[in-house]
Amino acid sequence: MKEIRRPDNMERITNAELAQSFIDEQIALVKEQVGDKKVLLALSGGVDSSVVAALLIKAIGNQLTCVHVNHGLLRKGEPEQVIEVFRNQMNANLIYVDATDRFLDKLAGVTDPEQKRKIIGGEFIDVFAEEARKLNDIEFLAQGTIWPDILESEKGIKAHHNAGGLPDDMNFELVEPIKILFKDEVRQVGKQLGLPDSMVYRQPFPGPGLGVRCPGAITRERLTAVRESDAILREEFAKSGLADKVWQYFTIVPDFKSTGIKNDERTYDWAVVIRAVNTKDAMTATVENIPFDLMQTLVARITTEVKGVNRVLYDFTPKPSATIEWE
Ligand code: XMP
Repeated sequence: MKEIRRPDNMERITNAELAQSFIDEQIALVKEQVGDKKVLLALSGGVDSSVVAALLIKAIGNQLTCVHVNHGLLRKGEPEQVIEVFRNQMNANLIYVDATDRFLDKLAGVTDPEQKRKIIGGEFIDVFAEEARKLNDIEFLAQGTIWPDILESEKGIKAHHNAGGLPDDMNFELVEPIKILFKDEVRQVGKQLGLPDSMVYRQPFPGPGLGVRCPGAITRERLTAVRESDAILREEFAKSGLADKVWQYFTIVPDFKSTGIKNDERTYDWAVVIRAVNTKDAMTATVENIPFDLMQTLVARITTEVKGVNRVLYDFTPKPSATIEWE
């Protein structure tokens, strides 16, 4: 297959009309490449894979099979949204795999951050490959590769894993319909394809998911505290208008406890840390100045609604010296 590159003179896709003509062009190209063959896609629910799914559903309908692997480290409501949007609204051929137990069992007791990332990445490929083997006549693998991925891997900044490290005997031909787009263009195309704003304008979310926000060994209880506090933070940021303004915001629940008091009784519980940062390229970041009354609302809600939590802290540290994520 010939190498496709972004033409130097390509107009930036900034409106519905340009997005639509890109979509029409790609639909024709995908049809030509794939014919009547079958295509497989790992659909995480992130912007890039969601846009690829929506585009391919338009182009080839049920010749596409999407696999959504729930590794148990997703945010509250995410797997449900993938099922609702793609299976129920777009009629996609969607295989949903709840692999939560498998991932959490493998991660039990593992404290080293890099080791945790390796386990999550490796297990993801294993689960996806197992699902792929159950299907017959798949010849193509779709990927949400975008133009910065190509540029960064060419410059040696970030390895772009073609075919996501699948076993060697699974040599699918790649379908990469958004490969020449910048992120803002991907969002424009996603909007034009009718994806909900909550998917198109999602804040960045790391592949290892909530796993890196549960520092040290992950336990189900602490993971639940991360998920529930994150949901409260997202809800309150949406209400106050900060959700559209702040680049990335989330909660962390470190592996330590402190003394507190509830209903006149002593507690010994976790602290939730709130992080809210702004950046252009994630290389450096500044901390958002959260209004004090919003902070008080967050503290009140998190300490009453999230089980096992008696304290809320705010991470005031820019990048550097801290990274954005805690692990
Ligand atoms: P750091 O923590 O390095 O994060 O300041 C910079 C940006 O990258 C995201 N991030 C990741 N994304 N896999 C990903 O896909 C990862 O392992 C990972 N680690 C960090 C982070 O959320 C932030 O937006």
